[in-house]
Amino acid sequence: MGKILVTGGTGYIGSHTVVELQQAGYEVVIVDNLDNSSIGILDQITEITGIKLEFHQLDLCEEEKVKELISNNPDITGVIHFAAHKAVGESVQLPLKYYRNNFFSLINLLTAFTGRDINFVFSSSCTVYGQPDKLPVTEEAPVKKAESPYGNTKQISEEILAETASVNANYHVIALRYFNPVGAHETALIGELPIGVPQNLVPFITQSAIGKRGAITVYGSDYNTPDGSCIRDYIHVVDLAKAHIAALKRQEAAKMEANFEIFNVGTGTGSSVLEVIHAFESSTGVKLEYKTGARRPGDVEQVWGDVSKAEKELNWKAELKLEDMMRSAWAWEKYINEHPL
Ligand code: NAD
Ligand code: WQD
Repeated sequence: MGKILVTGGTGYIGSHTVVELQQAGYEVVIVDNLDNSSIGILDQITEITGIKLEFHQLDLCEEEKVKELISNNPDITGVIHFAAHKAVGESVQLPLKYYRNNFFSLINLLTAFTGRDINFVFSSSCTVYGQPDKLPVTEEAPVKKAESPYGNTKQISEEILAETASVNANYHVIALRYFNPVGAHETALIGELPIGVPQNLVPFITQSAIGKRGAITVYGSDYNTPDGSCIRDYIHVVDLAKAHIAALKRQEAAKMEANFEIFNVGTGTGSSVLEVIHAFESSTGVKLEYKTGARRPGDVEQVWGDVSKAEKELNWKAELKLEDMMRSAWAWEKYINEHPL
């Protein structure tokens, strides 16, 4: 089994993926600058897996340090690149912060592997589709003009990767377009750690339920959907983590049809905001306070993924249900309130 470099490995999706990697027998090296995560996550991961980790606190924008790390680790065979800034609203206010971090870190990593055979898995997003014309959306759907600098960094990063892989046969790149990752590990030892008021639905729900926030506002009740609220494809973060292992396996088995491939990673099912709220209530027994409000600028009305390509080519399928997502998110919220990291 190869040694896998996980950038952003102390973050939300990264930490869950590190657990799956270790449990699948991979040796893991994490790089994170702890800009949006806590060092305490390392002990939490070790508590779950019982396996020690190699960790480097490093900013991937520092080119020389990245080069040094990569050349000191000639046995790295794969990279899963999670590290990025991801707050859509902040990216509108501070576009250069997003372009600088998300591009420099990607370019520095790719440069550091010049001439080396490397499997590279990139965190992309369904945000590249904007509001698709056809649902469920397939990987062939056109990429729409990005609504935010954050979304733009994902679109351009995919282009950087496609162009780099097309002229360098040593880069084997898979971009995974995530839909909406939610939930937490079944042990409740790791989960999402939002800083400040959560902008995303599920962390807001759990913080509201525990009394840290007031009533939930449902953004928009007049969308052209069955109950008037927006629809998304929510995917359990552990299912999502497993998709990264499936991508690595495809690369390792030399099954890729081209040096750059894209896969949707979702459940293939859409749920409305109201359905999520009701799933939380029914699966946890906790009543939520919520009200309907105005639409949130920039929101797409409805999106869910066609995930048949991942099922067929990656041999991967999401297994966990919305109720599992809600129950695990709630268990994590309760845990983290009692054991702040
Ligand atoms: P996260 O913020 O929890 O994790 C990202 C990690 O990267 C953090 O620990 C942060 O400290 C680190 N990081 C950021 N810039 C860095 C740098 N320059 N050097 C070193 N470390 C750096 O985010 P997440 O939710 O786990 O998302 C992981 C990836 O998935 C991101 O690329 C994100 O854009 C993408 N993604 C996330 C979602 C989502 O809803 N969470 C959806 C689609 C795509
Ligand atoms: C989900 C639904 C809201 C909060 C964002 C990024 C996207 C991707 C995932 C990275 C929407 C509604 C939310 C609230 C609400 N990230 N909502 N009340 O907007 O689908 O996607 O995260 O790539 O790029 O844009 O996720 O969780 O913010 O919202 O009604 O308090 O919940 O309007 O319909 P979104 P979200």
